[in-house]
Amino acid sequence: MKVLKNYWELGCRVADIVEHTLALPEPKLILPTGSTPLSLYKELVNRDLDWSTATTFNLDEYVDNTIQDQSYRYFMWENLFKHVNINEDNIYFPGDTAVWPQMDYGVGVDLCLLGIGGNGHIAFNEPGSSFESETRMVDLTEETIKDNSRFFPTIDDVPTQAVTMGLKTIMKSKKIVLMANGEQKLNILNVAMNGEITETVPASILQKHKNVKVYYCD
Ligand code: F6R
Repeated sequence: MKVLKNYWELGCRVADIVEHTLALPEPKLILPTGSTPLSLYKELVNRDLDWSTATTFNLDEYVDNTIQDQSYRYFMWENLFKHVNINEDNIYFPGDTAVWPQMDYGVGVDLCLLGIGGNGHIAFNEPGSSFESETRMVDLTEETIKDNSRFFPTIDDVPTQAVTMGLKTIMKSKKIVLMANGEQKLNILNVAMNGEITETVPASILQKHKNVKVYYCD
């Protein structure tokens, strides 16, 4: 695990990896939303990199047609996509079922960026998700709904379902970077990366991946 000085340093170091990936021919990336990647996206926008040949897949999306400002598509648009020269046809969200086979059957993702939930979820693969899981609709746990309520007017406004990329799909990525920010994530990080590999802690599957890096700052 690489421990960074602060949150901006975390964003910069992961931005170095993204920059390197964007220099590959037709790079393919999996991207997260949430609080953790915000400094990364800010840094990426500042670097003004060439995204013209890149394809991105987001990890997850809420199932709820009534939300707009809190949708993950909106989050990505505001924080990254509208600021860079990515081709809009190359941006994929799992809310669109037509995208599922493409995500699940080996598009050859170069880099997958992940955050981690307090319960060990990655994307919205909640505890108990099969290590063989592919893209699908899931119910969010009470803990995740509570965690995510900070982005909504009230907890009752938080969608209870999402579409998420599966654990098996994530593991097909050539390289994975797990980002975590804040002491409250330290315990789950330790359990996931050093504890038993079990479906009860979805992120523990990452121990089986050959090229995974963990970037943390408190
Ligand atoms: C979001 C996602 C989630 C978050 C996780 C941590 O696309 O896949 O797994 O990465 O819930 O969220 P933050 O960064 O808000 O603590």
